Amino acid sequence: MQRALKRAFSGRSSLRKHRCFSASLLKNNDDILLPKMPPFDYSPPPYNGPSAAEIFQKRREYLSSSMLHSYEKHLNLVDGKMQYLFDEDGRRYLDAFGGIATVSCGHCHPDVVEAIVNQTKRLQHSPVLFLHHAITDFAEALASKLPGDLKVCFFTNSGTEANELAMMIARLYSGNHDIISLRNGYHGNAPGTMGTTALSGWKFNVVQSGVHHALNPDQYRGVFGSDGEKYAKDLQGLIEYGTTGKVAGFIAEAIQGVGGIIELAPGYLPAVYNSIRKAGGLCIADEVQSGFARTGSHFWGFEAHGVAPDIVTMAKGIGNGIPIGAVVTTPEIAQVLTQRSYFNTFGGNPVCTAGGLAVLRVIEREKLQENAFVVGSYLKERLTSLKEKYDIIGDVRGRGLMLGVELVTDRQEKTPAKVETIHFMDQMKENGVLIGKGGFFGNVIRITPPLCFTKEDAGISLLLALNFSSKEA
Ligand SMILES: Cc1ncc(COP(=O)(O)O)c(C=O)c1O
Repeated sequence: MQRALKRAFSGRSSLRKHRCFSASLLKNNDDILLPKMPPFDYSPPPYNGPSAAEIFQKRREYLSSSMLHSYEKHLNLVDGKMQYLFDEDGRRYLDAFGGIATVSCGHCHPDVVEAIVNQTKRLQHSPVLFLHHAITDFAEALASKLPGDLKVCFFTNSGTEANELAMMIARLYSGNHDIISLRNGYHGNAPGTMGTTALSGWKFNVVQSGVHHALNPDQYRGVFGSDGEKYAKDLQGLIEYGTTGKVAGFIAEAIQGVGGIIELAPGYLPAVYNSIRKAGGLCIADEVQSGFARTGSHFWGFEAHGVAPDIVTMAKGIGNGIPIGAVVTTPEIAQVLTQRSYFNTFGGNPVCTAGGLAVLRVIEREKLQENAFVVGSYLKERLTSLKEKYDIIGDVRGRGLMLGVELVTDRQEKTPAKVETIHFMDQMKENGVLIGKGGFFGNVIRITPPLCFTKEDAGISLLLALNFSSKEA
C-alpha cells in the first residue's frame, strides 16, 4: 500500500494536466488495479429483508418523492461497523461521508450501543418533568467542552429545532427581530431556520420574515477573496441600511457543510461578532456539522476563528446517529425562557442523553480529535497535490475530517463540473467508497467520514480517485 501510494504521488509533474474524470474512463476495466479494502474483523449477519428494488418501489408509493436519494443504482445499507457499511449482499463500503457528517465515533460503536441498550432496558422515556441523571450527566459533560460561561443546555431532537430555539432566544433576549445569516449557509428547514438558510434549492415559498443574508466570506468564489474584514464591512452596511440599526443576532457555520465545505475567510467572524454586539444582537455558532472534534484542530469550528459565541447549537455528531440536538448558552441569556414554560417532549430523553454521553467519552478516550487532525491533514495534503495534476480540481479546502473538493470544467471561469461530480460519486461507490456531494452548484465532493477513519482508509480513497483519473493520461 505504502509503495503504491508513493508511486501514485511521486514524480508525476511531467504528466500532462487532465481536464476531467470522464464517464467512459470511470469504468472499472480489467486493466485498472483497484486497491483492496484492508482486512476487517467483522462480518454482518445474513440479511433476509426486502431488496433495494422492493424498498425503492415502496418508497415511491408511500414516501414523498421530494426525498432525495443518492446514486443511479440504489444502495440498500443494512449494517454498519465503525468506518464501514454493508449492503444487502454483505458487500463492504468505506464510508467517507459519515451519514452526512453525523457518525462521529464510528457506526454502531460498541460503547454507544451499550449505553443506549442499557438505558432502553431500564427506562426508555421520561420527560423533563421528572428527574433523571442521564440528562444532567450529559449537560455537565457538554458544558465542560465549551468555553466561558456557556453552560446551560437545552436538548432538542434535531439541528433544525436547535437553531429555531437559538433564534427565538436571541429575539427574546435582545428585544429585536432581525437576524443576519450568510448566503450559502444551511441552518434547517422549519420556517425560521429556512429563513436563515440561504441556498435557493432548499427554500420553499413560505413566509420567512426578518432575515438578511450577508455576502458569504467564501475564499474561492467570494468577491473579496480571503479578505475577511472586507466582507465584515458589508455586513456592517447591511445592519445600517437594511435594519433599524438593531438586530437580534447573527448565525453562521464556521465551515459551511451543505454549502460545499466553505471555510469562512480569516478575520471575518471577530469583526462581525463585534458589529452584531454593537447592534444589540447575539452571536450564534451553528456547530451542527463542524462540532464534536470533526475539524481536528479544535473541538468546535468557531474556535479556529478566535471568537466566543453567545449561543452554540449542535446536532449530528453529538449523537453518532441518535436523534439529538442541543442549544448551549449562558445562564443570563437562558433566563429569558423562564418568562413562559419551555417544553420539548423528547428533548433530553434518557436514551438519547445516555448515548450522547457515551459518544463524548469515546471521542475523548479514543483521541478522535487528534485522529481527525492527523488523518485529515494527510488527506488534504494529498488532495492538494492531486489538484496540481488535474485541472478539474478547482479547489481543495476544509479542516480535519471535514474536507471538500470543488470540481470545475474551467478553472478560470470556475465552471461547475456538475455531471462529472455525479459520475465520480457513482464510480467511487461502485468501487466501494461512499462520498458526499454539496455546494450551491452540486459540484463539491464532501468528505466527512467517521472520525475513526485511518490513513490507510484515506489512501484507498485517493488511490481510487487516482485510478479513475490516471487512465486519461
Ligand atoms: C449546519 C447545519 N445546521 C442545521 C442543520 C439542520 O439539522 P437537521 O437536519 O438535524 O434538522 C443542518 C443539516 O444538515 C446543518 O448542516
